[in-house]
Amino acid sequence: MKNLFSVKDKVIVITGSTQGLGLSFAEGFATAGASVVINGRDQNKVNQIVDKIRTAGGAAFGYAFDVCDRAKVEESVQKIEDEVGPIHALVNNAGIHRRAPLEELSYEDWSTVIDVNLNSVFYISQCVFRHMKNRNHGKIINITSLNAEAARPTISNYCAAKGGLKMLTKSMATEWGPHNIQVNAIGPGYFMTDLTKKLVNDPNFDQWVKSEVPLNRWGKPEELIGTAIYLASDASNYVNGHTIYVDGGWQASL
Ligand SMILES: NC(=O)c1ccc[n+]([C@@H]2O[C@H](COP(=O)([O-])OP(=O)(O)OC[C@H]3O[C@@H](n4cnc5c(N)ncnc54)[C@H](O)[C@@H]3O)[C@@H](O)[C@H]2O)c1
Repeated sequence: MKNLFSVKDKVIVITGSTQGLGLSFAEGFATAGASVVINGRDQNKVNQIVDKIRTAGGAAFGYAFDVCDRAKVEESVQKIEDEVGPIHALVNNAGIHRRAPLEELSYEDWSTVIDVNLNSVFYISQCVFRHMKNRNHGKIINITSLNAEAARPTISNYCAAKGGLKMLTKSMATEWGPHNIQVNAIGPGYFMTDLTKKLVNDPNFDQWVKSEVPLNRWGKPEELIGTAIYLASDASNYVNGHTIYVDGGWQASL
């Protein structure tokens, strides 16, 4: 029987994959035999990660672009298709925070977070979809958050973007399902990365996570890899439009 979870030799594009969860997804997919496309805004950082994965025996290719630069996105998707091969899966991982109380939040910080976390996903997915549609095959995995379900103070822009991304996932699944493309999301709980460094270093927040999360600890980035491989593989071919929360049980206990 074939390995239902195989991603061997598949081209997987992961946005924002030079650090944090994106890097972990990239290393996980590469270890599983996929050809991973590394992305970030800094060409040097992208090159370093490509070298690191190749040195470890994986297949990696680098394309530096800002996910909000639509002309670059379109051009890069075409180049990846031509130079690396048909994109099997797109992981929309790039994301940012700009924290401020709602009353004081500047319009710029509001719209930048919506642009990076939500608008960019619409555009790159549309570009990739046009190729997947011709092949009648593909997987899109959007990285949302617990904040698609539950708000916290000072991150209204992020909550709105991730809540929107949850519904964009359902919309893509609904419209693109007929082309045999499955679109799902992963909603990470609290994971230790640069994005959450401030929270990890805040003793009150750290304690709050450890007491509220039923597993009593932060997540480790590598603990998301299995879910991503599942959603990129044949094992999930009839799973479409869902968000899988990988959160140590936090939502279950709310
Ligand atoms: N860390 C967590 O606990 C957590 C929890 C829930 C959701 N998430 C989500 O997971 C994803 C990754 O988060 P992380 O913790 O690894 O963050 P991170 O800050 O460590 O990494 C984010 C990556 O995105 C890249 N990026 C940002 N803006 C970009 C742009 N315009 N174009 C291209 N790349 C860009 C950065 O260069 C970086 O590589 C984000 O979407 C985040 O919202 C993280």
